[in-house]
Amino acid sequence: MAQFHVAVSDTVFPNLDRARAVLSQIGADLQLAAEPKPEAIMRVAKDADALFATYAKITAEMIRQMTRCRIISRFGIGVDNVDIPVATERGIVVTKVPDYCLDEVSDHAMALLLSAVRKIPFANRLVQDGRWEMPAVVPIHRLRGTVLGLVGFGRIPQLVAPKAQSFGIRVVTHDPYIPKDVLERAGVQHVEFGELLKISDYVSIHAPLLPETTGLFNAEAFRQMKPHAYLINTARGPIVDEGALAAALDAGQLAGAALDVMAKEPPQNSPLLGRPNVILTPHTSFYSEESLADLETKAAEEVVRVLRGQAPRNPVNPEALKGRPEASRA
Ligand SMILES: NC(=O)c1ccc[n+]([C@@H]2O[C@H](COP(=O)([O-])OP(=O)(O)OC[C@H]3O[C@@H](n4cnc5c(N)ncnc54)[C@H](O)[C@@H]3O)[C@@H](O)[C@H]2O)c1
Repeated sequence: MAQFHVAVSDTVFPNLDRARAVLSQIGADLQLAAEPKPEAIMRVAKDADALFATYAKITAEMIRQMTRCRIISRFGIGVDNVDIPVATERGIVVTKVPDYCLDEVSDHAMALLLSAVRKIPFANRLVQDGRWEMPAVVPIHRLRGTVLGLVGFGRIPQLVAPKAQSFGIRVVTHDPYIPKDVLERAGVQHVEFGELLKISDYVSIHAPLLPETTGLFNAEAFRQMKPHAYLINTARGPIVDEGALAAALDAGQLAGAALDVMAKEPPQNSPLLGRPNVILTPHTSFYSEESLADLETKAAEEVVRVLRGQAPRNPVNPEALKGRPEASRA
């Protein structure tokens, strides 16, 4: 009999061998939900000691039905799909893996920026269709001397900045919570949000999805952008109001967008589909073979720590651990 039962709501891994190997240290078994829907998830999570979650929504109602759960370990960075206040109330610590794909997402943001500005997907389609033409891609502007505005200056954009700077791009940011010395070391100027929209040739979103960032990119924001500017989003879809973006593109308020994340994934009847000046990738910024291996191992190590009564490395709600006698045992 396994000492602990660990449930998995959903996964992007081809198998869970790495997690299983880590969990074997504490004699825990692993059960994957048959499908990422509440009833199927609850079938494996109801009496589990821990839950791994990827994209499935872990709602208040679900958390309240978990009788033994001590940790919800997200296979990822953002934790907006888990009801944190209710987890805290129930003494369940929620953990994330903040550092498994920093190279990948910052590379992807640059790849989207370069693809948009150099019109690579558009030009590729022309050539594949037998059209070897330059006029169709006009105009393209030089990167050197332009301005990139990073919304949020956390771990990922701190890696985007030097990559962009190496192309001769000046980097500015808006992040209300970032210490001055981080900006100084990065050679990045802090500006107000409205100013960032006004002066940036490319705006790349790296803020978390929060009530105050939901719909941050709305009609009012697009009105302030440069007509030749590109919007890049590798953070979370709902930060952008997609209807307003489509209308702004139609009105020529910005030149294009390159998005790895969308309000609804996969998109259904999105007004952004089928446009030559919109590049879409299917939420793959995080992915490389190496990043997935790190993610699976690090998320499983958090479960092992918590079930052993040790403190996790990256708790989102450390207050959930307070008052739990087993959490303070070594
Ligand atoms: N597409 C993908 O595959 C993928 C992969 C990893 C992460 N992400 C997303 O990228 C985002 C950024 O990741 P990170 O590692 O840089 O995050 P991080 O936690 O290191 O930093 C987040 C930053 O956002 C800032 N912030 C908070 N509220 C803000 C606001 N209203 N306006 C501007 N900035 C604000 C914070 O001060 C912090 O500096 C994550 O929140 C996650 O949703 C996406």
